[in-house]
Amino acid sequence: MVSTATMTERTQVVQPLSQTLRDETARAHEGAEGSEFMTALVRGDLDAEAVHALTGQLWFIYDALETAVRRVAHTALGSAVADPRLERRPALENDLANMMGSDWREKVRILPATARYVARLESLGEDEAARVIAHHYVRYLGDISGGQVIAARLGTIYDIDADALRFYDFAAIGKIPPYRAAYRHQLDELPLGADEREALIAEAQEAFAFNTAVFADLSRARAARQPQPVR
Ligand code: HEM
Repeated sequence: MVSTATMTERTQVVQPLSQTLRDETARAHEGAEGSEFMTALVRGDLDAEAVHALTGQLWFIYDALETAVRRVAHTALGSAVADPRLERRPALENDLANMMGSDWREKVRILPATARYVARLESLGEDEAARVIAHHYVRYLGDISGGQVIAARLGTIYDIDADALRFYDFAAIGKIPPYRAAYRHQLDELPLGADEREALIAEAQEAFAFNTAVFADLSRARAARQPQPVR
């Protein structure tokens, strides 16, 4: 006789991981997409400076993310998604130099929420490849999905040169739809234990929360810079 526990485990693994991830993070995605900062940015209510501020925070995030990915790239799990062609660090450095000048490193300041996100990425060791993959999924799959729409809007609305938006340029991976399909397939084929699968899904939720917190900090930092109304 098959026990109930075994039945539950079986039902859980029936759904491909890529689908579970999409379903389980749908609400978190809405939260990130609908955050005050993102909504205003995409609507055209902000300015090029807001794009610069976001790009600065992304540099800290990708610096930590790509270091974490390299740390697990040789593992069975990590090697399934690690792809140097995705790396954003050089593109971000190019964009920041274009936006702020060659001394951009002296101008960008890490926000508290970004520092917490970075600390989490730095804390993930070689034996936590599943959690690293969660962060990989949330950022890169987002960048090659909605990120492409966002880039087109930012360029047009805020009149930003394509040379300063290389972050969103994934020409190196070829056509995006087949890459995304292959990525999802890789996720579905990951040799994950039940605990690792659970950890990956939980970490993806966390990753969205970290991003949403960064957007909230960007809004706060912006509000603090605006001239206060005279009473
Ligand atoms: C204005 C902000 C955003 C818009 C308009 C947007 C839009 C989209 C769209 C249109 C898709 C494609 C859905 C599909 O093809 O099935 C997508 C997918 C995705 N987005 Fe966003 N997004 C935004 C912000 C974000 C943020 C901030 C993150 C994470 C930091 C993110 C992460 C993702 C991920 C991981 C996917 C892939 C879902 C999957 O197929 O598994 N998005 N987004």
